[in-house]
Amino acid sequence: MNTVRHQSSNAFVYCRLLSYSYVTQLRSRSFVLKRIAISEIRSSRSRLLILRMSLSQNRYAPLRDMLQACPHSERLVVPWHFITNGDNPMKHHAFGRTSFVVTDVGFGAWQIGGAWGDVSEADGRAALNAALDAGMTFIDTADVYGDGRSEKIIADVLKARGGTRPMVATKAGRRLNPHVADGYNKANLEGFIDRSLKNLGVESLDLVQLHCPPTEVFYRPEVFAGLDELQKAGKIKGYGVSVSTVEEGLKAIEYPGVLSIQIIYNIFRQRPDHLFFKEAKRRNVAVIVRVPLASGLLSGKITRDTKFASDDHRNFNRHGEAFDVGETFAGVPFEVGLQAVEEVRKLVPAGASMAAFALRWILMNEAVTVVIPGARNAEQAKGNAAAADLAPLSADVMSATREIYERLIAAHVHHRW
Ligand SMILES: NC(=O)c1ccc[n+]([C@@H]2O[C@H](COP(=O)([O-])OP(=O)(O)OC[C@H]3O[C@@H](n4cnc5c(N)ncnc54)[C@H](OP(=O)(O)O)[C@@H]3O)[C@@H](O)[C@H]2O)c1
Repeated sequence: MNTVRHQSSNAFVYCRLLSYSYVTQLRSRSFVLKRIAISEIRSSRSRLLILRMSLSQNRYAPLRDMLQACPHSERLVVPWHFITNGDNPMKHHAFGRTSFVVTDVGFGAWQIGGAWGDVSEADGRAALNAALDAGMTFIDTADVYGDGRSEKIIADVLKARGGTRPMVATKAGRRLNPHVADGYNKANLEGFIDRSLKNLGVESLDLVQLHCPPTEVFYRPEVFAGLDELQKAGKIKGYGVSVSTVEEGLKAIEYPGVLSIQIIYNIFRQRPDHLFFKEAKRRNVAVIVRVPLASGLLSGKITRDTKFASDDHRNFNRHGEAFDVGETFAGVPFEVGLQAVEEVRKLVPAGASMAAFALRWILMNEAVTVVIPGARNAEQAKGNAAAADLAPLSADVMSATREIYERLIAAHVHHRW
């Protein structure tokens, strides 16, 4: 993974420029750039050019304006929000082939929408603020999370905070009723996108993801052509697909416009780490990992006696009654999951939470761009942000998790997703 660690007291500008010579040109013209030391780090995979410099806060704005003014032939866009104040301790990655740079742990915003029991608006705001305070620069939401509640809370919080904006990815398609392939036409998608634009209070969506569409959609090029048109029209900056299965992911990335795939990958769902991750990496497709804690099972706090509210999907979708059962506890039968959790617990290093361990396990994989644990309160969001600080897991620990998966879990999930 191409990671860069921030150091305090320095300011960093992340940009993806097509040529270093443009930086030189800028320097010859610019007083601001002449006075700062720039070091270049170019990663082989993503051509991520990092301008590292020490400069005072009041220089951000002129620098931002200058970089924003780069002609398109010289950059893959340099959004101003990659100018950070140097206090951000999190690791960053280029988001696939886009110009976005995101932290390796992001914020899953389903909880602040609905379907997780009672999460008050105050808790939702506090969770998101804690995530942003910790430095997260990626938020995943969907138009259906609380029927727009999640998107609206995100818009409000970002407006109130002002300043640098994180990348916000939303999803479209699940408002269809019935949820069928024919509904995934340009007119419907545009309607959903217009609604998300309004909810999020922006003129263009950073990323829209098809929201686990029926498998048939992956065989309809016209759906992706429609998204290309909406991108050209400026309503979206790019698009990706949230997929249910490895096979859908492999099919989706054959469409050249697909910038990202969102998929379930965790200690209980190890199959993506075969052909799919290899292919995604080869095509420089961003990989967003969802359900990293198997809906909370891998936090180690859930027991046989844990009660879930009637409006929590861990109660109402335990057997796939409302949507794909793979989204609830990663599709692992509850009792089997609890048994495997006890074995995973033995591998967690002293002083670390099991949730942080489970997230670190995911970040061991080079193909992962961003992992998006869902958080219902500030404490969880803070804990999740800290996961990236755990030391890398040893080869022995990684093979022990593999052994647990193969012995207890694989028979329930490996052939299904
Ligand atoms: N089809 C799709 O595209 C799709 C489907 C599912 C999810 N997603 C996205 O992926 C995100 C993550 O998946 P997910 O939320 O379903 O599952 P998850 O991240 O595996 O689990 C979230 C749950 O884990 C627990 N948790 C989180 N952080 C914790 C911490 N630090 N310590 C202890 N417990 C912690 C909480 O459980 P409690 O609530 O019990 O406290 C939380 O509700 C979602 O928010 C959403 O953005 C997308």
